[in-house]
Amino acid sequence: MGNKVAFITGITGQDGSYLAEFLLSRGYEVHGIIRRASTFNTGRLDHLLFDGQQEKESGLYLHYGDMIDSSNLNRVLEEIKPDEIYNLAAQSHVKVSFEVPEYTAEVDAVGTLRILDAIKETGLKTKFYQASTSELFGKITEVPQKETTPFYPRSPYAAAKLYAYWIVVNYREAYNLFACNGILFNHESPRRGENFVTRKITRGIAHILAKKQDYLYLGNLEAKRDWGYAPEYVEFMWKMLQNCDVEDFVIGTGETHSVKEFVEESFSYVGLDWKKYVKVNSRYFRPTEVDLLIADPSKAKERLGWSPKITFKELVKIMVDADMRAIGLEPIGEGDEILKQKFPDQWWRID
Ligand code: NAP
Ligand code: GDD
Repeated sequence: MGNKVAFITGITGQDGSYLAEFLLSRGYEVHGIIRRASTFNTGRLDHLLFDGQQEKESGLYLHYGDMIDSSNLNRVLEEIKPDEIYNLAAQSHVKVSFEVPEYTAEVDAVGTLRILDAIKETGLKTKFYQASTSELFGKITEVPQKETTPFYPRSPYAAAKLYAYWIVVNYREAYNLFACNGILFNHESPRRGENFVTRKITRGIAHILAKKQDYLYLGNLEAKRDWGYAPEYVEFMWKMLQNCDVEDFVIGTGETHSVKEFVEESFSYVGLDWKKYVKVNSRYFRPTEVDLLIADPSKAKERLGWSPKITFKELVKIMVDADMRAIGLEPIGEGDEILKQKFPDQWWRID
């Protein structure tokens, strides 16, 4: 039997790039779709595609495609016949979804349906992972949140992901597909998009230290999130598809912290007083906010033996170190040390 074949939508994103790296390290042939853009959008994958300027054979194959083009999705699936599909593509920014609600629904909700329907129509024998989200819990009805907690979406993004969640459940029940939802809480890394709050903070700190920026403008500092480390979460996506049972899982650390705590922790790591640099700007507030997210990941621990290694404080150090290095500053180094100690056999490139 040849190598297993995986198909990743959203391969150029934070999670997609780590997942591609993880699957390649396990011998998979990995395919992904990328959108045509006027600038290159493969920055997070370039280390897998090139040795310097030279293209390399890594087992990674990129196809042009888009979640709103079903003819393209059908064609790629028929051509590569993947054993596993990871549907990570999304307009993933909650605040932006209030500005482009229809597009967000097209990509995040109907896009998911397009792939599921292609699987059903072609009769492809494959396993399907859906990137569901803790945003589904929204205006929470239970603390902490687990697989059985009711959903109450608070944004066009979350409403679109709610449709995606249920269409996965429906296709599983109606057509017996191996399709499951990973309900992941926030997970971050040096590859996080620069307009998500953690990365905005750690990158802002590096710019302040390098005297390229005077202030950091943020929105709601009181919101609380359960923040984990992205490489650990993508490993779980794969575990879910190796599970004998087809079921949904919540993944998170079980700890929650406010945006303000993230700010305090990261500024104090580099010896700065955050109050001198952080300004609140109303343009970053959302019409409806998700105030508190905290996971109960006990099902994942009991059934699949998953528990995260990186704590909140360690995540802050890893991200600040990486952003300092990215801008040409000598990192403090504690984050790098943590990674070496906790992941001696790490499969991803440390940024
Ligand atoms: P991300 O960095 O924003 O990546 C999103 C990916 O989707 C990118 O590759 C993007 O391509 C692609 N994409 C966007 N619109 C597309 C379209 N119309 N057609 C094809 N591809 C499209 O997101 P992430 O943090 O890696 O998250 C991965 C998935 O997990 C998303 O579905 C997100 O909603 C979900 N999720 C994330 C978290 C988290 O904390 N990170 C938690 C729960 C769930 P471009 O590079 O071209 O923009
Ligand atoms: N982005 C951003 N920018 N958020 C800010 C800012 C700011 O300047 N200031 C405060 N915040 C607050 C937001 O209001 C929110 O309460 C919190 O910081 C986290 O915002 P984001 O980092 O944008 O992430 P998110 O929690 O809205 O969504 C992320 O996690 C979801 C899982 O819970 C995304 O990755 C989603 O795709 C994912 O589903």
